[in-house]
Amino acid sequence: MDAPTIIADPVLALDKIEQSHKVVRGILDGIRRSFDLNDNESAKILILKLLMTEVSHFNDEEQIMERFDYPDLSAHRAQHNQMIDALSNINRIIILDDPRFLSKDFIDYLEKTQNHEEEEDVLLKKFLASLERQ
Ligand SMILES: [Fe+2]
Ligand SMILES: [Fe+2]
Repeated sequence: MDAPTIIADPVLALDKIEQSHKVVRGILDGIRRSFDLNDNESAKILILKLLMTEVSHFNDEEQIMERFDYPDLSAHRAQHNQMIDALSNINRIIILDDPRFLSKDFIDYLEKTQNHEEEEDVLLKKFLASLERQ
């Protein structure tokens, strides 16, 4: 079983964050492709997969932030919570089979996740990198 011991090392923590960002980007690309192909069934499956992946990714990041006493943890966590709410809403729309999910909600989420990575996650990664050098 996966023990949570890897978080004790900032190098491995940073690596774990970067690996899951790659996984998330891959899923987002897949969703965009499904939309381009009008493949609603694949889009639905991938959006559900995105929700599960983001929940686990955000938990990992939050555990890492706690472990290393990251000073901006609460603001960062608040953004994660907003993103999970947004994705949960998208999933609810999908369950109702309302085609609106194809448009604005997902594009908003793409923007949110991109901004979050470029603003909040970059700061966290810089913080972990600074610990590596100590
Ligand atoms: Fe992240
Ligand atoms: Fe994050």
